[in-house]
Amino acid sequence: MTRRKLGWVPGSSGGGVVNLGFDVGDGAVSGLSYRTYTPEDGPGSPHAREPELEPEPEPPGSAAAPPPGKWDAWRMLLPFRPRPKRPSPQPLDDAGLFSYLTASWLSPLLLGRGGRQRLDQSTVPPLSAQDASDRNARRLRRLWEEEVSRRGLAKASVLRVILRFQRTRALVDAFLGASFALMSVLGPVLIIPRILEHSQERRGSLAQGVGLSLALFLSECLKSLSLCACWIVNQRSGVRCRAAVSALAFQKLLQFKSLTHISSGEAISFFTSDVNYLFEGVYYAPLIFLSSFLLLFCTISSYLTLGPTALISTASYLLVLLLMALLTLLIVKKQKHTAEVSDQRIRVTSEVLTCMRLIKMYTWEKPFTNIIKGLRRKERKLMEKSGFIQSLNTILLFVAPILSTLVMFLTHVGLQLELRASTAFTVLAIWNSMRLVVFFLPFSVRGLRESQSAAERFKRFFLQESPVLYVQAGTDPSKALVLEKATLSWQRARPELANRAAEPDSNGHAPEGTPPPGGLGPAGTGDSLAPALHRIHLAVAKGTLLGVCGSTGSGKSSLLSAFLGEMHLLEGAVGVRGSLAYVPQQAWLVSGSVRDNILMGSQWDQARYRQALHCCCLARDLEILPFGDSTEIGERGLNLSGGQRQRISLARAVYSDRETYLLDDPLSRRGRHVGRHIFEECIRKALRARRWCW
Ligand SMILES: Nc1ncnc2c1ncn2[C@@H]1O[C@H](COP(=O)(O)OP(=O)(O)OP(=O)(O)O)[C@@H](O)[C@H]1O
Ligand SMILES: [Mg+2]
Repeated sequence: MTRRKLGWVPGSSGGGVVNLGFDVGDGAVSGLSYRTYTPEDGPGSPHAREPELEPEPEPPGSAAAPPPGKWDAWRMLLPFRPRPKRPSPQPLDDAGLFSYLTASWLSPLLLGRGGRQRLDQSTVPPLSAQDASDRNARRLRRLWEEEVSRRGLAKASVLRVILRFQRTRALVDAFLGASFALMSVLGPVLIIPRILEHSQERRGSLAQGVGLSLALFLSECLKSLSLCACWIVNQRSGVRCRAAVSALAFQKLLQFKSLTHISSGEAISFFTSDVNYLFEGVYYAPLIFLSSFLLLFCTISSYLTLGPTALISTASYLLVLLLMALLTLLIVKKQKHTAEVSDQRIRVTSEVLTCMRLIKMYTWEKPFTNIIKGLRRKERKLMEKSGFIQSLNTILLFVAPILSTLVMFLTHVGLQLELRASTAFTVLAIWNSMRLVVFFLPFSVRGLRESQSAAERFKRFFLQESPVLYVQAGTDPSKALVLEKATLSWQRARPELANRAAEPDSNGHAPEGTPPPGGLGPAGTGDSLAPALHRIHLAVAKGTLLGVCGSTGSGKSSLLSAFLGEMHLLEGAVGVRGSLAYVPQQAWLVSGSVRDNILMGSQWDQARYRQALHCCCLARDLEILPFGDSTEIGERGLNLSGGQRQRISLARAVYSDRETYLLDDPLSRRGRHVGRHIFEECIRKALRARRWCW
């Protein structure tokens, strides 16, 4: 189902320039709509640079919930919180510290109706307001702007901003890490020796033994609770960070007029891989606190128990951890290289499959087989290497704790120092908890490394300047479209470059590749920054039917794009009055039925729909289609001819009932009869009779 996430609805009356916006449905862009332009949207206005996403419609049940206050998050630190009179839609928001750390706030949901309640969309509570993307994105944007104003664009660091974004949570995490480390050594240092003494000397009472065992049990419980709490806190920080960064990157992406500065692959990988790398960074990197505290506490307690020889264990652990970190970085590098080679192999394989006929006709099977085999060999070797390093890392994981304690005890005994059984067991129990650190380390290193490169890519993305909205609302009610000595380019050029490209040199000759002033010009010739449209002075009155002719590449489509605000205005002014409908040269269809593609989310009006079908000559095509206008088309549906796609695109514009129609090559790919029908019925009658067309 399509939901209009952006409230960019066309204005029904009154002038105004329009702007393209996205309709997003089920996580995919499913349509385009126009937004009425207001004078406040001019180039100088804040909206011009930072169009905000409209807030999402509130999920059912959350409308009654008041917006979260500044200190609401801190209330969670209360050990227990009574159930409020007006509970939040998300029970997590009403949980106390104990409930939060033990995840017991989930119990009513999981055990509802005696555990027979199904978990589905209606039973799972809505997202906590604290984790909502708009709130977190606003905060991240503010922190990023502060960072840029403090250090300048070049030195601003996304990682530093993310660290500030979760500073308080990182401190809580450090506290929990310290408490885990303390509990890890408390039992072995204070309780285990007493238990050993108690069992060896057989002097203490039964109650004392039970008490010691209970104390050990309690310290282990606190240890587990601290560790689980670390995971819970980190995970929630990661979720918030991912939501904030995705929302911010998405807002930024929507501001771009075209993806000329980044490839669509890069843009997709922001949302599929890079945000996950940042999540992993936020999730795993704080484990470094826990590891450092644990190493420190283990060193101190084993030093106090055994003496200076305990430092040998610390040194060997540090050595092993360093080695493991290096091996993990090597694995990350190898895996990245493997992914590149795999991509290459998949690309060549799909090319071969697509062009199989051609390859067979020219008997190119062998050369292509050799190319694919070569890539496969390279890929396999890389995978073997990273597998080998991974095995080394796993060996270290198990061997390191044994090896370091062995070296420590051998040195201790070799120096002929006293070693009692209770001391040896205590030291063993202390260092045993370090196994966890060795296990966590690869995750932390990987998370940090990946998030660092993802943060660099995000910075490049955020540094892209947002385009300026240059189209202004037309002031003259008799004019639909106005260009006043407008010079527009597809590239963002410095004005002096643009002027130089258009102005004559000292001999009075126009620079090479520059078209005469007042004309459409070839952007591809000469300077790549040369404007596509030069000093065009044009005013189209209401009700005018205007056709523009020109050779291919002369800038006819660019002229239409100029009114849509897709280009960069270098000088002059562009004005539009009223709403626009645009039929591009290349028809654009979404996955869905023919009717969906024509209606594009508008309200159903049978008479208008029939008229659109008739004047675009589509009635005959719908008779041929297997399910009429319910036939699925688009990427996953039936393949239509170029002409059919164009006519559906035209019918969409006719149905949309706008004031001005921009039709790019509307009569191409049509037979003579169809072309004549469209010109007479659609362009001359339907569009002109209703409003004005161009
Ligand atoms: N989206 C775009 N981004 C960058 N440059 C573009 C874009 N669209 C067109 N151009 C450039 O603008 C110049 C004019 O192209 P345009 O498509 O406007 O010509 P046209 O007159 O519509 O040609 P045709 O008759 O073949 O449709 C070309 O040199 C082209 O490379
Ligand atoms: Mg064109």
